[in-house]
Amino acid sequence: MSTNNAQRIWVAASEHLAEGAYLRARIGYAGETIDVVVFRFKGQCLAYRNLCVHMPRELDCEQDMIFDATGQYLRCSMHGIVYDPLNGECASEICAGKKLTPIAVVEDADGIWFDDRLAISAS
Ligand code: FES
Repeated sequence: MSTNNAQRIWVAASEHLAEGAYLRARIGYAGETIDVVVFRFKGQCLAYRNLCVHMPRELDCEQDMIFDATGQYLRCSMHGIVYDPLNGECASEICAGKKLTPIAVVEDADGIWFDDRLAISAS
């Protein structure tokens, strides 16, 4: 992971993130080091802190996947809570009203970048 300027943190080339695929990254965020999942959904690159709202587990802690079988929801592999990929809101009754922590990303001609004022390179 390298930085392009003070705000943006390099994630990956666009061709390395196919529809429905995800990448993991580690960044500094608001004074701590966190793990993030970056994925492509309906063509859009999105990212959230990789931390379930139910218990402090990563979404892919039990399986190497973050989407449910339909591909329409993010799913924590620990107990199966699902989330709306577009806004991180929990779509399961048990954690209704809670949401994943979004990390701003942008995609341009050079690739995919974190572009979040609270994010810094973890290296
Ligand atoms: S820890 Fe994620 S669903 Fe329980």
